[in-house]
Amino acid sequence: EQIEKGGYDHFMMKEIYEQPSVIKDTYRGRLHANEGLIKMAGIDDNIERFSNAQRILIVACGTSWHAGLVAEYIFEEFARIPVEVEYASEFRYRNPIINDKDVLIAISQSGETADTLAAIKLAKEKGAFVFGVCNVVGSSISRETHAGAYTHAGPEIGVASTKAFTTQITVLTMIALRLAKLKGTLSNSDYHRYLSELEMIPEKVQEALQTNEVTKQIASVYKDAQNCLYLGRGYNFPVALEGALKLKEISYIHAEGYPAAEMKHGPIALIDEQMPVVVIAPKQGHYDKVVSNIQEIKSRSGKIIAVVTKGDEQVRALADHVIEVPETSDALSPLLTTIPLQLLSYHIAVMRGCNVDQPRNLAKSVTVE
Ligand code: G6P
Repeated sequence: EQIEKGGYDHFMMKEIYEQPSVIKDTYRGRLHANEGLIKMAGIDDNIERFSNAQRILIVACGTSWHAGLVAEYIFEEFARIPVEVEYASEFRYRNPIINDKDVLIAISQSGETADTLAAIKLAKEKGAFVFGVCNVVGSSISRETHAGAYTHAGPEIGVASTKAFTTQITVLTMIALRLAKLKGTLSNSDYHRYLSELEMIPEKVQEALQTNEVTKQIASVYKDAQNCLYLGRGYNFPVALEGALKLKEISYIHAEGYPAAEMKHGPIALIDEQMPVVVIAPKQGHYDKVVSNIQEIKSRSGKIIAVVTKGDEQVRALADHVIEVPETSDALSPLLTTIPLQLLSYHIAVMRGCNVDQPRNLAKSVTVE
C-alpha cells in the first residue's frame, strides 16, 4: 500500500497532486487548441441529439453533483442551452417531465451509484438521450448510457473525491465548447481563448499546488473550529459547496457552502470571532460584490480565509489569510480555486487525527439506496 501511495502519506494527497497530469490525460487527443477543435467521439457521433436538445438535464450525487453545478454555468454561458441540475435521488422519485428532445448527462466517478443509475433508466424509458461522464471504464453507468466520455483520471482510492471532480469539470467544459462551436454561441475570439486557457490549466494547477504550505499553516490555526462557512459567487458558488463537503467528509467539522450574496439571508447570523469563513474571490467574475461580502464578514469579526488571484491587494488588506491561485478566466477558475480547498481540508483532517482516506460512515461508491 505504501508503494501505491507513491510516497505520500495518504491516497487523497497523492490524488490531489496527480491533478495536473490527469487533467492533461483528460483532454489529450480531444482538445486541439492550435486547430481550434474539440474532438470527442461520444459527442461527434451523436451531434444531432445535442444540436436538437431543448435543454440538458444533469443528474449526479455528491461531488459529481457539484461538478454538474459548475457545468450548468458553463453550458448556459458557452452554448446557451438551458440546463437543470438535480440530485439523482430526487430526480428518480418525483415523476420528472422528460421527453425525447432532452439530453440527460449523468456524472459519476465510480459509474456505480445506485441513484444515478436509476435516474438514467428512468430518463431512457421516457426517450431522452443519455450521456455518461464516468471515470471507471466499463462501469454500470458507462454501459447503461447511450454514449459518454470518460474522465481518464485513473483510480481514485480516497473516499473524498478530488481528481475526479477536476477531470469531470474538464470533460464538461470541453463538451460545452464543442456545443458552442456547433451553435455559434461564442465569439470566435472567446472560443479560441477558452481552448488555449483550458490547455494551460494543468500548469496552473501545478502552481496552485504550491499553496500547500500556506494552507497547512492556515489549517493549524483553524483545526479546532467547530463550524466553517464557505462562500462564493457564480462559477465559484459550487466550489464553495465542494469545499464545505470536503471539510465535512474528512475532518467532521460542520461546514456549509453558500452563495456569497445569500449570506445575509441567514448565515450572517452565525458570524462572530469564532467563525472561519472561506471566501472564494478571484479577480474575474463578481469580484467587487465578493469584496463587499468580505467587508460584511469583517465588520462582524469573522475570520476570513480568502482564495484570491495572484497579486491581489484589495482582499489581502481585509482578510486574515490569503491563498493565491493563478489567473484564468471566470469560467475555468473552479479548476484552480478548488485546489487549496482540497489541501485545507486534508491538512485539517490530518491534524485532527482523522482517517483521511476512509472517513467514518462514508463509502467510496454508494451502490445501495
Ligand atoms: C459517495 C462518495 C463521493 C462521491 C459520491 C458520488 O458519496 O463518497 O466522493 O462524490 O458518492 O459518487 P459517484 O461515483 O457517482 O461520482
